[in-house]
Amino acid sequence: MNTYELESVAQALVPAGKGILAADEGSATIKKRFDSINVESTEANRRAYREMLFTTPGTEEFISGVILFDETLRQTTQEGTPFPELLANKGIISGIKADTGPNDLAGFPGETVTEGLDGLRERLTEFRDLGAKFGKWRAVINVGDGLPTQCGIDSNAHALARYAALCQEVGLVPIVEPEVLMEGSHTIKRCEEVTETALKRVYSELHVHRVVLEGTLLKPNMVLSGTNCPVQASVEEVAEATVRCFRRSVPAAVPGVVFLSGGQSAKLATEHLNAMNAIGNCPWELSFSYGRALQGPTLEAWGGNAANASKAQKIFYHRARCNSAARYGKYTQQMEALAA
Ligand code: 13P
Repeated sequence: MNTYELESVAQALVPAGKGILAADEGSATIKKRFDSINVESTEANRRAYREMLFTTPGTEEFISGVILFDETLRQTTQEGTPFPELLANKGIISGIKADTGPNDLAGFPGETVTEGLDGLRERLTEFRDLGAKFGKWRAVINVGDGLPTQCGIDSNAHALARYAALCQEVGLVPIVEPEVLMEGSHTIKRCEEVTETALKRVYSELHVHRVVLEGTLLKPNMVLSGTNCPVQASVEEVAEATVRCFRRSVPAAVPGVVFLSGGQSAKLATEHLNAMNAIGNCPWELSFSYGRALQGPTLEAWGGNAANASKAQKIFYHRARCNSAARYGKYTQQMEALAA
């Protein structure tokens, strides 16, 4: 294992003012996104949509890396340039969704464990040879009555650590993603408790599995009020709770924390990241690895019509720019007005 290279890639994913685009929606998820704009999820439409995103002029100013799905890693532009090559030419690093998705955890109703460990060494080696430099594995933690259980947290932490160790063995930087879902009526305090417990367990497993933390990134949820909680925390409360929770549970050796957006609106995800960076004085970079919060408004503007590509690209560029400003704590409402 070349730890120097792993550390360099991890750091190159979180430079000042840049973050990651998560465009690695699996077959079921991209179908759901396309359904919302009445576009059929065919191979050709998925390719066209991703080409529109990846060829957006200027996004390399704000985007350091893109997470791809297996199919996308193998696709090309209409002119025949493989997507990883197109991105590399813009100085953008390609990554790969390495897990095969969550499945019900036997004996624990309401909980899942993420699968994909069988044959993972061989799959990761192939992904690396196709141009990926980092991986992503998403574990899902549900909050509810009696949930999550210790077994639910342990099983997911164990799988994340085995994935991370395999990534480093083949030379990929593992992005470790334990997502505590925002769906539910729980309070922000409960989200903080669960997130802290899960993160501590994940870092304990990573240690047991001899994962080199300097060559990893964490992709967590923010600490939020549950979607159906009657009392919704303010932007400042979210920022304070998230930073406090991570200071207690994420080792300083980790170079960056790249948040998922998890169903927050695009603007709110930017505001939260901005407020955290305004607090400052954290040992890790606080950045983004948004899927919906970067793509939502763009997807809508595109609507499956090539004639809308340029308008959709402008919207994508704008969201990337706003999130870049949030990396410095310098995002303002005026920035949104400027784009309108
Ligand atoms: P969202 O930002 O839409 O949550 O997606 C990020 C992601 O990669 C989830 O695995």
